[in-house]
Amino acid sequence: MPQVYISTHPLVQHKLALLRDERTDPKKFRELVREIATLLVYEATADLVTKPAAILTPLGRAEGKRLAETIGLVPVLRAGLGMVEGAWQMIPGAEVWHIGLSRDERTLQPVAYYSRLPVSPTVDVCLVLDPMLATGGSAIAATNVLKEWGARRIKFVGIIGARPGVERFTHAHPDVPLYLAGLDEELNEAGFILPGLGDAGDRMFGTG
Ligand code: PRP
Repeated sequence: MPQVYISTHPLVQHKLALLRDERTDPKKFRELVREIATLLVYEATADLVTKPAAILTPLGRAEGKRLAETIGLVPVLRAGLGMVEGAWQMIPGAEVWHIGLSRDERTLQPVAYYSRLPVSPTVDVCLVLDPMLATGGSAIAATNVLKEWGARRIKFVGIIGARPGVERFTHAHPDVPLYLAGLDEELNEAGFILPGLGDAGDRMFGTG
């Protein structure tokens, strides 16, 4: 799966282990999701385009670089919300556009309940944020929405992906790279990633 990047960074792996731990409470869980998002966004934005910029330091002229592309963060509600602050720490000027998708517990199909996108694209690069990619249905649906909107460059930033869902996603959207902290092999009958971390939204918001 050439477009799938699993972070090998020791900080990411350390924080992922803490995140998976069943003893991690919602406050700590939120902190970890935010921190992992910061680190993954750093990795996912390594190929952003820059342009030369002349700068005056207190001691003279310097040649620098500035971002030439505008970024949109697209959190998939609810759990993707937890990744926004972390991404913003790296890209404070990013616009945020929300997509609400909820997985039907019986069919495991994503049900769209909210979409807040402008009429035409306002950013060059969209980073879809959702900690979990299980069957892949939600990530595929969110990416479909963005493509219908006219988004040109899309990247998916998650935390844990399940191999069957990741394969389904790469088949549906071969042009969209995925950045993850971990790749698990299986899903259970209820569509939960094994071993995963449980229900990210419930653990984040204390609703489990
Ligand atoms: C979870 C998760 C993803 C989706 C992954 O959200 O945050 O959005 O399920 O599953 P999939 O890959 O099989 O589509 P959920 O629908 O539970 O909503 P929530 O974030 O509001 O809890």
